Amino acid sequence: MAARKPKPLVAGNWKMNGLKASVKEVNALNAKLKKAGRVPCEVLICPPMPSVQAFAAKAKGTKVAIGAQDCHANLSGAHTGDVSAEMLKDVGAKFVIVGHSERRADHGETSAEVKAKALAAHRAGITAIVCVGETEKERDAGDTLKVITSQLKGSLDDGFTAKNTVIAYEPVWAIGTGRTPTPEDVAKVHAHIRKRLAARFGSDGDAFRILYGGSVKPSNAEELMSVPNVNGALVGGASLKATDFFGIISAYL
Ligand code: PGA
Repeated sequence: MAARKPKPLVAGNWKMNGLKASVKEVNALNAKLKKAGRVPCEVLICPPMPSVQAFAAKAKGTKVAIGAQDCHANLSGAHTGDVSAEMLKDVGAKFVIVGHSERRADHGETSAEVKAKALAAHRAGITAIVCVGETEKERDAGDTLKVITSQLKGSLDDGFTAKNTVIAYEPVWAIGTGRTPTPEDVAKVHAHIRKRLAARFGSDGDAFRILYGGSVKPSNAEELMSVPNVNGALVGGASLKATDFFGIISAYL
């Protein structure tokens, strides 16, 4: 039986970019989406932490959801500088990215910590976007699938569902570099992820959204988004301007 295709998600990860005035990009994107009529994908922007609340207030009731780029695993407590998933939920975040390679690299986050953060998101009623991806060195050594398998195993919990979790495949060497894997390579990794999800979560494994991320831009979005088992994109640089981001969303229009 052919499984129902999950509704794609096009997510923007603003990283450490943008001030509160950048909310104008959310407004501009909304205007474009409104004009486009029916939008067959979900649209998400994850601004830096200080902007989450204001952006979420602006985007309320529109076609754009607002999320965050990280959360702490605990509910509250003595964790200076950290933010809990409950706090994100409280200010209107619907999603949180966990385990982005920049956090795995800059903050030494392990897959076990990523899993704890995703569990925290679920506890708060937020969808977790769990990132996985190989470095260039791992790719060159032919270890891509091995790395992905291990990151999925360690970052996901048996209770995760397609409703509360999204997977993002982001080859580290493709992030912010303008380089992308070939559609064949993307297809291979996404098929592998799908297989791992099906093995772990049964038929629900088919319903998980698997995003591709790494140098997605308007000019390559259509090709990448049409690869089998690619159910959307996680976009960095090209999500900062409404025009570019809409150009990527247009792959689904
Ligand atoms: P990029 O970043 O689109 O700028 O390559 C993607 C990401 O890190 O999520």
